[in-house]
Amino acid sequence: MASTNLISATEEWKCLREHVADVDKTHLRNLLKNEARCESMTVEFDGIILDYSRQRITQETVKKLFKLAEVAHLKEKIDKMYNGDHINVTENRSVLHIALRAARDTIINCDGKNVVDDVWQVLDKIGEFSERVRTGAWVGATGKSLKDVVAVGIGGSFLGPLFVHSALQTDPEAAQCANGRQLRFLANVDPVDVARSINGLNPETTLVVVVSKTFTTAETMLNARTLRTWITSALGSEAVAKHMVAVSTNLKLVKEFGIDPQNAFAFWDWVGGRYSVCSAVGALPLSLQYGFPIVSKFLEGARSIDNHFHTTPFEKNIPVLLGLLSVWNVSFLGYPARAILPYTQALEKFAPHIQQLSMESNGKGVSIDGVPLNFEAGEIDFGEPGTNGQHSFYQLIHQGRVIPCDFIGIVKSQQPIYLQGEVVSNHDELMSNFFAQPDALACGKTPEELRNEKVSDHLVAHKTFSGNRPSLSILLPSLTAYNVGQLLAMYEHRIAVQGFIWGINSFDQWGVELGKSLASRVRAQLNLSRTEGKPVEGFNPSTTMLIKRYLKENAP
Ligand code: F6P
Repeated sequence: MASTNLISATEEWKCLREHVADVDKTHLRNLLKNEARCESMTVEFDGIILDYSRQRITQETVKKLFKLAEVAHLKEKIDKMYNGDHINVTENRSVLHIALRAARDTIINCDGKNVVDDVWQVLDKIGEFSERVRTGAWVGATGKSLKDVVAVGIGGSFLGPLFVHSALQTDPEAAQCANGRQLRFLANVDPVDVARSINGLNPETTLVVVVSKTFTTAETMLNARTLRTWITSALGSEAVAKHMVAVSTNLKLVKEFGIDPQNAFAFWDWVGGRYSVCSAVGALPLSLQYGFPIVSKFLEGARSIDNHFHTTPFEKNIPVLLGLLSVWNVSFLGYPARAILPYTQALEKFAPHIQQLSMESNGKGVSIDGVPLNFEAGEIDFGEPGTNGQHSFYQLIHQGRVIPCDFIGIVKSQQPIYLQGEVVSNHDELMSNFFAQPDALACGKTPEELRNEKVSDHLVAHKTFSGNRPSLSILLPSLTAYNVGQLLAMYEHRIAVQGFIWGINSFDQWGVELGKSLASRVRAQLNLSRTEGKPVEGFNPSTTMLIKRYLKENAP
């Protein structure tokens, strides 16, 4: 395969490259004066509004991006995903996270089998089990109800459930269902994280959920063993049956670990780790915390976007538009990063989830056929909730590097506060910033405006804002479980669209392997040095020096 097979070799790609010069002649300050343009760049679906008028694009750009989508066979690729084709070619797997939230009567075949039946078998099991735990029908080894849950897992087996949990915590309906229960997560192998996860918890009233697709991830398995010891040293070895359950695709290893396969919740190879929030990975811990009806609403929200993504023409298709705009920003305008800026504290864990979802999916250097890319793909995702971020890194976004921003706002706060005598509520204050920041970035402030304001000459340069900095605004009606599901699916599909256009495999993650195998070598060295006094060897001088120092300071 040669680079002529890459999307960059197409006329449509070249045409967009040339088009950058036209866009460079424009400024968002002026583009935003065009009402017809702004109107054409607003899309509404199921209560969500996407306004992308503050992207550095003209209506011509959008047309050219649709042509690129056509030549990249975007529609066909989406259909292949929904049809269960093995689009994850390097692992020879289907990519069917949409089946995890499909309605019970849907048929989605994977290798000739309707997987929706399997999905609902597990969901029903989750519903029953979580109900038993929550009502106290399932008790621990000493007969006490289990009111707290520690979910042990890392990466995709952690970040998605954490984001959804922190969003639901502030939803009044979900919070009421939680009814004083606690859900904690243990991801890092760092002993500090272990201590933090169980601090103040009583093994007698705690259920540990070990979440690992492979059931081989070193950090998770060590943490799982540590918590098993925490339980068995307090309650005896028999207690594992009542206090530990698992979520995995590898039921054989679950059994070998000592967890009864009856207490295991399955998922499947066709679910990528970072796309697994809607499987038992998220559904079990969230159902234990909030009850299954809340989880159902979350799944329904995701399903609504799945249907929209599959059936809506590209002009009105929110994930498609989001994906195409990101391709434009990264590969044509050359912006390497994207800021995720939710204006709600409830979404404080959204950016960390998107970091993995996006960067593990699209951080690739070769096409799906193995041809080195000759253009930039993938982006650096980061973010913080507003307004906190404004007092942190927004300086750079306003006057330093250009970073396309996603502003995510919520129309109705879950926790409104109205102080007597205050006209503007806390939520109004928050949203005033949500509405203002995109315009500050887009329009900036000119030296002329500053001089008219009588700003001293020596400060004019410092107070000038060049503007022309792209962003898009996503407005959600509220942040219920349903809306959280919508938001999740919107980003999952956006990231897939980017990968489909770039022609890469967004569903494998070979880039995490090298570090893992090097860590194994170091682990073996630490072991042999400690037990047999084996000298540190086989590493470069820098690593040798660091390991030696570490061993010296940590001598038994
Ligand atoms: O970081 C690599 C990775 O394989 C992720 O893709 C995955 O979500 C994470 O590790 C955890 O894997 P597992 O669920 O198998 O423990």
